[in-house]
Amino acid sequence: MKGIILAGGLATRLRPLTWVTNKHLLPIYNKPMIYYPLEAMVRAGIKDVLITSSLDHSGHFENLLKTGEDFGLQLFYAIQSNPKGGIAEAIALADEFAKGEKVLVILGDNIFNFNLLNTVEKFKTKDRGAMIFGIEAPNDPSQYGVIEIDKNGKVLSIEEKPENPKSNIIQTGIYMYDHRVFDFIQALAPSKRGELEVTDLNNIYVKEGSMECEIIDWWVDAGTSFDELLRANNLVAEKVKSGELL
Ligand code: DAU
Repeated sequence: MKGIILAGGLATRLRPLTWVTNKHLLPIYNKPMIYYPLEAMVRAGIKDVLITSSLDHSGHFENLLKTGEDFGLQLFYAIQSNPKGGIAEAIALADEFAKGEKVLVILGDNIFNFNLLNTVEKFKTKDRGAMIFGIEAPNDPSQYGVIEIDKNGKVLSIEEKPENPKSNIIQTGIYMYDHRVFDFIQALAPSKRGELEVTDLNNIYVKEGSMECEIIDWWVDAGTSFDELLRANNLVAEKVKSGELL
């Protein structure tokens, strides 16, 4: 299974911090933000990881992370020409890199310590399908992709930033897909905001009945606001000091 970390976008919500620096290089307590998804890949046993970013910043990631040897994996880099083409567009850059294998995708601004290894191992044995990771919304669910789950835990729908959320369970930026994901992305049309949306992609699997959801413990999307960036810093500081995190 191959790994993909997305580190593009314009990060307009964090300006002026992100006028010059890429959001995923901002500090989260004692490490640059991108270390967290990268270390999650390491814990999940993924050996090859593609980092997608914009032309302006791709070199910064190469300077920082180099070949990936220091982390015990091999890193590859891809440029997303339109930094706001959408999460699904960025995933599509990994088509050749994935070589027909399944993929684990993590958004570069997602901070968590959940160990994905068991789920990855289980997912590898499946013929087809996809997996999302949910959590109770830490704040207003309408800022995220909202998941509707039935009483047996089956995913019924996912709505991107809905005005009237159907639940308070949201999808994090951790996704697993089978090899068909690249064909599915090709069939997507841009949303109203001009992006190929990860939620539209995920809903293809939901409709097929092959989308599963696992609930994780703590998680912060550090890219949504200054307050969430601060919350990620404070939470990680607390966990480092208590020994829960390195
Ligand atoms: O973090 C979880 C949320 O991530 C989900 O609940 C939403 O369903 C999902 O759409 C996404 O929402 P965001 O509003 O947080 O997405 P954002 O535009 O901030 O992009 C998330 C990451 O993906 C960010 O680290 C940058 C990267 N990205 C984004 C876009 C639009 C790219 O690499 N390329 C892109 O074109």
